[in-house]
Amino acid sequence: MKILFARDYQDMSRKAANILSAQVILNTKSVVGLATGSTPTGVYKQLIEWYEKGDIDFSKIKSVNLDEYCGIKADSDQSYYYYMYENFFKHININLKNTYIPDGMEKDAQLECKRYNNIIKQLGGIDIQLLGIGHNGHIGFNEPNEAFEKETHCVKLDDKTIEANARFFDSKEEVPTHAYTMGIKSIMQAKKILLLASGEGKSKILYDSLFGPITPGVPASILQLHNDLTVVADEGALSEI
Ligand code: GLP
Repeated sequence: MKILFARDYQDMSRKAANILSAQVILNTKSVVGLATGSTPTGVYKQLIEWYEKGDIDFSKIKSVNLDEYCGIKADSDQSYYYYMYENFFKHININLKNTYIPDGMEKDAQLECKRYNNIIKQLGGIDIQLLGIGHNGHIGFNEPNEAFEKETHCVKLDDKTIEANARFFDSKEEVPTHAYTMGIKSIMQAKKILLLASGEGKSKILYDSLFGPITPGVPASILQLHNDLTVVADEGALSEI
């Protein structure tokens, strides 16, 4: 595991964007696993800037996202599809047909999970997976549990997650109770993992995830077993390390 110290959010974003852009430049046909949340928005912003300068070409890149809320339409401004489109895809030359996000409006969970697992398989695996971390150690929407869920599944969101994500909705009651998420096995099979954390609020969970026991009670702790994990975190998030 490599831990890169960043001075602040901007520095974290630039360092992570450097790693992602190196991947895309070295292999123009990379499959990149993308994440949502407030942590990676700075990375997307930086990548767009370099794209606009002509430094990066996304035309042959394929992307696969970690998760999506159930019951939220793709064009609603709270969906992760909308987030990806607004914060990244619409600004770069990625072919939207090569971008994959679970379909939150598919009511048949078994069908949707099977479809998404097949997509990940057909893509031939993920070259680099970008991750944020939830306050309870969730990655994607893999919530603390008694066992690690391997593949795409429909998850009941933790109260803590609903509370944390309520800031993107008008009220806590409007936050969906369920989501589709890529499973731990698919994440762990990515060739490289890039985990981001920013702010003191993430310092305890980052410490527990990277140095505590490996347990499904702290889903991100499984990342300790990955052989190519890079953590980019700022001073606040690293304050307990
Ligand atoms: C959400 C997402 C995660 C993300 C986490 C942390 O629940 N499903 O992928 O890592 O929140 O979000 P933030 O970066 O806003 O702290």
